Amino acid sequence: MAEVAVEGISKRFGTVTAVDNLSWRFDDGRLTVLVGPSGCGKTTLLRMIAGLEEASDGQVLFDGKAVTTVPPWERNAAMVFQSYALYPHMTVFANMAFPLQARKLKKDEIRQQVERTAQSLGIDHLLQRKPRELSGGQMQRVALGRAMVRQPEVYLMDEPLSNLDAQLRVEMRGEIKRLQRELGVTTIYVTHDQAEAMTMADTLLVLRDGKIEQAGDPEHIYRRPASAFVAGFIGSPMINLIDGRLEGESAAFMAGAARIPLSGELRQAAMDQGGRPLLLGIRPEDVVVSQESRPDSLPARAVVREPLGKEALLLLAVDFLPAGSLLRAITPPELRPAPDETVWLHFPPERLHFFDAGSGVAVQSLRLEPKS
Ligand SMILES: Nc1ncnc2c1ncn2[C@@H]1O[C@H](COP(=O)(O)OP(=O)(O)O)[C@@H](O)[C@H]1O
Ligand SMILES: [Mg+2]
Repeated sequence: MAEVAVEGISKRFGTVTAVDNLSWRFDDGRLTVLVGPSGCGKTTLLRMIAGLEEASDGQVLFDGKAVTTVPPWERNAAMVFQSYALYPHMTVFANMAFPLQARKLKKDEIRQQVERTAQSLGIDHLLQRKPRELSGGQMQRVALGRAMVRQPEVYLMDEPLSNLDAQLRVEMRGEIKRLQRELGVTTIYVTHDQAEAMTMADTLLVLRDGKIEQAGDPEHIYRRPASAFVAGFIGSPMINLIDGRLEGESAAFMAGAARIPLSGELRQAAMDQGGRPLLLGIRPEDVVVSQESRPDSLPARAVVREPLGKEALLLLAVDFLPAGSLLRAITPPELRPAPDETVWLHFPPERLHFFDAGSGVAVQSLRLEPKS
């Protein structure tokens, strides 16, 4: 297949820097997901790789060769967009055959390739239909089929599932992942949906303001976010972020008057960092909620309980968050505090994340290895 790389690539639109001196080597044959909030430069980066957008600086390489002067149709990359862009007057077969006809393949070959691709996508029974006779999910499959049929070396996909309803999106993301594995084609997949990104990625790139904020294995990024931005963007319900500072002597994190004890292992680091303003991060599933008080537990008031079936999301008023902000905790279904009941919180020290309050960068010396 093909290895795609970008080196020091930038794109400026007037005064806006959409992509900012970004370098990355995309794994050959693997699925890399670009994720980040709207406007962070995902589409622009993908379009530069496709050749649809000219870089202001830097270069795109396919298999180590710069493709700066190679037009999009010669890059052997197929792009799938959010909008399906099917030809409405042509059948599914003709839509899928189109890229092959453009390459002057023989009729038999075209038929074979279209039928085989249609089968792998489960749309072979739709080949004689027109796009208006298809559901949204079927149209998206046809659009994928049209990209796959000419067996390119690289797939570039820009939010291809965002027009589908939630259930279909989950189904299709599994399907794309399966096909990508089977075909082993280098794939760069763009989404703003962190759940889609987590579930699909072999490698995840979190983008912010045209730069890579963190890159790597999705589960590692989840467990070890490099910044408060990544911690806040990856994971749902969102991580709790609490302003405060470390108190060295007692090895505790002080958020206002609330004292969150740290583990003894962190005492030295806490001494070294004493007084430094920090953000403490704890994921909702790591907050332990109890209806009885324990030593060192913090009081909270149950405000809303949202049952999710196998668990519940509990929203809690606490005195260490600004007025109006609620702490999020995932709790077992049997824990059912009455509205306004006081409950008790425990923050396992090995589950805490610390970020510099100014830069948002994770403070490595304040990290414990999780015990489980
Ligand atoms: N053709 C364009 N002209 C001017 N600004 C653009 C153009 N395309 C994108 N931008 C700007 O570049 C930034 C990145 O856009 P984009 O790559 O579309 O982000 P994303 O796909 O992550 O939402 C945004 O600020 C956007 O407004
Ligand atoms: Mg976009």
